[in-house]
Amino acid sequence: MCGIVGYVGPKQAVQVLVDGLARLEYRGYDSAGVAIIGPHGLKVVRRPGKLSALSAALTKEPLEGKIGIGHTRWATHGRPSEENAHPHTAGSVTVVHNGIIENHVALRLQMEALGRRFSSETDTEVFSHLIDEAIVDGAPSLSAAVRAAVNQVEGTYAIVVLSEKFPDTIVATRNASPLVLGKGVGESFVASDVPAILEHTRNIVFLEEGDVAELHAGEFSITDRAGKAIERPVESITWSAAQAEKDGFPHFMLKEIFEQPRAVADTMRGRLLPEHGDAVLDGVELPLNGLGRIVLLACGTSYYAALIGKFLIEGLARIPCEVDLASEFRYRDPVIGPGDLVVAISQSGETADTLGAVREARARGAWILAIANVVGSAIPRVSDATFYTHAGPEIGVASTKCFTAQLTALALLALHLGRRRGLSEADGLKFAAAMASIPEKMTRCLQALAPDPKTEPPFPALAARFKNARDFLFLGRGANYPIALEGALKLKEISYIHAEGYAAGEMKHGPIALIDDGVPVVVVAPRGPGYEKVLSNLAEVQARNGTVLAVATEGDETIARQAKTLLHVPEIDPRLQPFVTVIPLQLLAYAIAVARGNDVDQPRNLAKSVTVE
Ligand code: M6R
Repeated sequence: MCGIVGYVGPKQAVQVLVDGLARLEYRGYDSAGVAIIGPHGLKVVRRPGKLSALSAALTKEPLEGKIGIGHTRWATHGRPSEENAHPHTAGSVTVVHNGIIENHVALRLQMEALGRRFSSETDTEVFSHLIDEAIVDGAPSLSAAVRAAVNQVEGTYAIVVLSEKFPDTIVATRNASPLVLGKGVGESFVASDVPAILEHTRNIVFLEEGDVAELHAGEFSITDRAGKAIERPVESITWSAAQAEKDGFPHFMLKEIFEQPRAVADTMRGRLLPEHGDAVLDGVELPLNGLGRIVLLACGTSYYAALIGKFLIEGLARIPCEVDLASEFRYRDPVIGPGDLVVAISQSGETADTLGAVREARARGAWILAIANVVGSAIPRVSDATFYTHAGPEIGVASTKCFTAQLTALALLALHLGRRRGLSEADGLKFAAAMASIPEKMTRCLQALAPDPKTEPPFPALAARFKNARDFLFLGRGANYPIALEGALKLKEISYIHAEGYAAGEMKHGPIALIDDGVPVVVVAPRGPGYEKVLSNLAEVQARNGTVLAVATEGDETIARQAKTLLHVPEIDPRLQPFVTVIPLQLLAYAIAVARGNDVDQPRNLAKSVTVE
């Protein structure tokens, strides 16, 4: 995820900025840059790649000045490159930005009509032009210019701005993306995250939505978007640097589980059109003429997302869908060719098996759409088009927020295909409205299951009870069958307990022999299609003294009479149940792994990107 640091004070700014950015490196990024105002005016240095490349450039071309801003970029719009790296400059203004601007295309056209030229592919550059335009139009202060600009922008942002016209001022504002101010002695800081400035000050102000902060050396003031003064408390931070990196969560995995509502919302942003009951795919033109079938290829957790994608695509678009493990597909002389649309799903975009499968499918004439989280990674590079998830970098090896972001991308794809294949407007509107409700439902689910995640691990009693179990069984039906598979994979990966996911109806065909009082069985049983049948499977487990943990819909009295241990999820359109039913399973795996004392973020034998076959 992108990182921001800004400084104004008595020190040379460049070192403060580079050190601050280095403290945000753990978040992942693909380019970096700084802008300084000094005796020679505004200077900007940007480099693709790691901070070491930026530092080397700054050694060759030192920047002098006591006010500046810096950024590490995680690409969303436009590949990682020097032109797309921040800060972005227009006229006297330079800007760093975290977030996604939804109406950037319209704003760019508006600015171009005024004769302005753009030099990057980013959404961010519109901010620089809008702010510079406001200054050219006579804005009395940098804050006034920033206010005029943000009033035209839709989307999420944390921006920090410098202008040669106001050379002792930094302005920062936010909408949905976080920003903090730091108060030092004779110096002021701004950053996207506390760790970037913790070395200099522990006196922090957390900006709220719509706050506009103006920073000078040693003082800052905050106003709202209308320019009215606001007071925000200065908080003294007691976290260690390591805790601050995880935003106070004990592990990245837990932090990422809690980031899911944001990751899903960001992946939908500007793409879901609830008022039209439709979805757009960032301008990707799918080969719909003569499209006979879709083949979804992926590995691991991404494969389970693909299994759910099949339900969504077949359900909404009525196009036959096959799902294949990428690691198997490429070695079995697959029947694939022109007329087939292959959707390759990969969080890292680097998985060797998926990459190999894509090359194989492409060589045989299929058209490839990648769904990936890392811009410019290998799989997008060999695909015909890419639809990126906007989950931000995932640091925990066990995939959580990337999984639900993949489900979001697949649901958008299904809706888009559906509307082009006869799904009525009324049905599109209904599905889109249900999709729009997902982030709020996920938030509610997380808060109910783990109310105080930073200080108290979730499910302490369950974790203590089951941490020594030898085997676990996970059961589900329909789109909750892949959730059972994913629940079992999560538990295996981080707790090292053997776990199997099964389609609930398959239990009687074999795995029922395993059931006794020593095998906990997690039954994914939200109300909806197949519910009664899953209840029968649950009863079959209980009849054999099996211990049942049921994932159930809030307020479901029927299941409450049958199962003692219930993990509740909110009611949601049944087609979208996996977005909430996966949450208790992620938390359960996490809780058990923590209770066993395992390294949750770096489980043994696993790598975040599997670049070997
Ligand atoms: O980067 P990818 O999505 O292609 O990775 C695929 C699998 O290696 C990955 O999902 C793996 O199963 C994770 N460790 C799951 O938590």
